[in-house]
Amino acid sequence: MLKLINFIIRRCKQILIVLFVISAVYVITIFYVMQPLSKNNVNISNTYTILEHVETGINHAKKYFHHVSTLIRQDVRKQGLLGMDTTNESAAVLTNVISVTPKSVSDHSNYGTKRLNIIFPNVAERQFATRPLECYSIHKESLSDISDINSPKSRSIFFLETSCTSHIKGRIALTSRQACAVESAARMNPNLDVYVLFVSPGIVKYAGTESDKFLTAILSYKNVKLHHLDFKRYLQDTPLEDILESGKLEWSSFPVTHASDILRFITLWKYGGIYMDLDIVTLKSLESLAPNFVVLETFTHSAAGVIGFTATGDGHRFAEFCINDLKLNFRGHSWNQNGPLVATRLIESMCKTKITKNILNKTCNGLKVYPPEVFYPISGFDLVALFNASFNGAALNVLSNSYGIHVWNTLSKHLPIYVKTSNVSYAILAKKYCPKVFQKCKTLF
Ligand SMILES: *[C@@H]1O[C@H](CO)[C@@H](O)[C@H](O)[C@H]1NC(C)=O
Ligand SMILES: *[C@@H]1O[C@H](CO)[C@@H](O)[C@H](O)[C@H]1NC(C)=O
Ligand SMILES: *[C@@H]1O[C@H](CO)[C@@H](O)[C@H](O)[C@H]1NC(C)=O
Ligand SMILES: *[C@@H]1O[C@H](CO)[C@@H](O)[C@H](O)[C@H]1NC(C)=O
Ligand SMILES: *[C@@H]1O[C@H](CO)[C@@H](O)[C@H](O)[C@H]1NC(C)=O
Repeated sequence: MLKLINFIIRRCKQILIVLFVISAVYVITIFYVMQPLSKNNVNISNTYTILEHVETGINHAKKYFHHVSTLIRQDVRKQGLLGMDTTNESAAVLTNVISVTPKSVSDHSNYGTKRLNIIFPNVAERQFATRPLECYSIHKESLSDISDINSPKSRSIFFLETSCTSHIKGRIALTSRQACAVESAARMNPNLDVYVLFVSPGIVKYAGTESDKFLTAILSYKNVKLHHLDFKRYLQDTPLEDILESGKLEWSSFPVTHASDILRFITLWKYGGIYMDLDIVTLKSLESLAPNFVVLETFTHSAAGVIGFTATGDGHRFAEFCINDLKLNFRGHSWNQNGPLVATRLIESMCKTKITKNILNKTCNGLKVYPPEVFYPISGFDLVALFNASFNGAALNVLSNSYGIHVWNTLSKHLPIYVKTSNVSYAILAKKYCPKVFQKCKTLF
């Protein structure tokens, strides 16, 4: 009996010691590693690496992480530095790490600014308390559903709004910059239909909000068509029909982005045409683009912000490749796995080589590979060029080969443009290419 009690006491001691060590590590981590960060500025001379515990679901860590990432963003903005590494798969996959690494403040920028290498995990997309995709299964009064109308013309332009913010008060909404993307596309392509598909329910209510004014502005173009997209119905009888039920999408770290990735390929598979992100200003007619194309973001990776496929033949084959690739390789914790890397793998498969400068402007098995300047003339690292008038000359001079300019909304949405006073290049482009929307902005574009 005594032996047994002794044994239990010994065990308890061990357990207590282990518990003590764990709490000590926890306390030390909180106070010595995390605490200095919560001061009101982040010293970018230091290296910060914080892990986001997505898988283990530690809410405290998540909230803390969100807080720090906000501070870093603010600080980075204050210093006029911007950057995001969206192509570094290993870093994005590893841990959803936010790392601000002084060593990578490098000279890659074309505009004499410092480049700061930050991997934004974009925690905001997965709100902890809310379900970012909850509107996908809500049935309420909505615009007419895309699946109910006659098939779009075989070469139409498609935009997708996959966030659930737009069903607030039963009305769909667009920001000025999203509306600018739509207006510029419609304006420069009067012969093409421009579809904006809202996954969240709601109708256009002309109630006088700023967003209502933007919607009115874009609807003044005869070729703009707004529709609802019932997610589940849209995916029925496609290779991805199980994705919503599987929970993979809902539990993704980037559900809104990944829903958009899925829908862009499905849309091209169903109808063909040109898919565009809602943060592109279209600068010319897209009719002279190759029938099937992708656009590189760097000289090693493709983006998926603009893709054109034909409805049948080669284009349909490419869309099928993308959808099957997505089905096979879907990963919720990687920002770029299900969009940009799908396009990258498509190119590598069609061109039978890794992406290098040698394949710029080449057509591989029917797939045209455009260089970055065609839609990404200013990289995410050089975004300051669009938001600081000192760089106007540099920014506006690189657009001669561009059909459009991607403005990296994830990174730039918080950078203000005051309609009355700003003379930054994004404002100059907006005034010219989306004049009606720009005019409707009260104070901020
Ligand atoms: C930032 O960190 C560097 C290196 O640790 C240090 O030399 C510098 O004084 C710090 N700057 C501020 C403003 O704290
Ligand atoms: C990607 O990020 C990891 C971790 O930060 C780094 O070790 C690696 O060198 C990076 N790779 C590239 C190609 O930048
Ligand atoms: C790609 O083609 C365009 C248009 O012909 C040309 O202006 C550009 O220099 C080409 N780019 C490369 C890298 O070959
Ligand atoms: C714009 O860039 C210039 C040159 O780098 C810099 O001096 C100026 O402070 C920047 N303006 C703003 C508003 O950040
Ligand atoms: C705005 O910038 C453009 C291009 O840099 C320049 O031509 C124009 O004079 C500027 N306007 C004002 C009011 O500063």
